[in-house]
Amino acid sequence: MKLEPYRILFVCLGNICRSPSAEGVVRHLAARANPPLLLELDSAGTAGYHIGAPPDPRSQAAARRRGIDISDLRARRVEPNDFSRFDLMLAMDRENLSALERARPRNSRALLRLFLEYAPGSGFHEVPDPYYGTAQDFERVLDLCTSAAQGLLDELQQRS
Ligand code: 4NP
Repeated sequence: MKLEPYRILFVCLGNICRSPSAEGVVRHLAARANPPLLLELDSAGTAGYHIGAPPDPRSQAAARRRGIDISDLRARRVEPNDFSRFDLMLAMDRENLSALERARPRNSRALLRLFLEYAPGSGFHEVPDPYYGTAQDFERVLDLCTSAAQGLLDELQQRS
């Protein structure tokens, strides 16, 4: 019998700041999970402004400072097939969660959640959009992604 990975899609608006950061942090931390977790991770945007673009240089720099390389990721838009391909779709904020709920095809199987449900102690329910913000805002994205990634991986470890 072939073991199926647990498939998670991280979703923000442009897929160049928050969701590639989330994907990179979860991949980085999951690589150290013991016992190992079989995961398939990806990220996408609810808008198509930046399709094909690498992560924002400010997100790449913030990730790199933590030893995480997200330079090879490329932005794409959420597509209908994602709702049947992924087990879990984690939105960075309520606006993107609502966009997913509206776009969700009938009978799709993915569970839709806010990513920060896995970081209950962070004081935040949403990962604030850093696009028009400062370097500090990009650091906060990485901090929040790290907290939620740990909560998510802990839960997956307990389940497996
Ligand atoms: P993200 O950030 O949703 O975290 O990738 C944004 C990126 C681009 C834009 C807005 C937010 N934009 O308006 O182009």
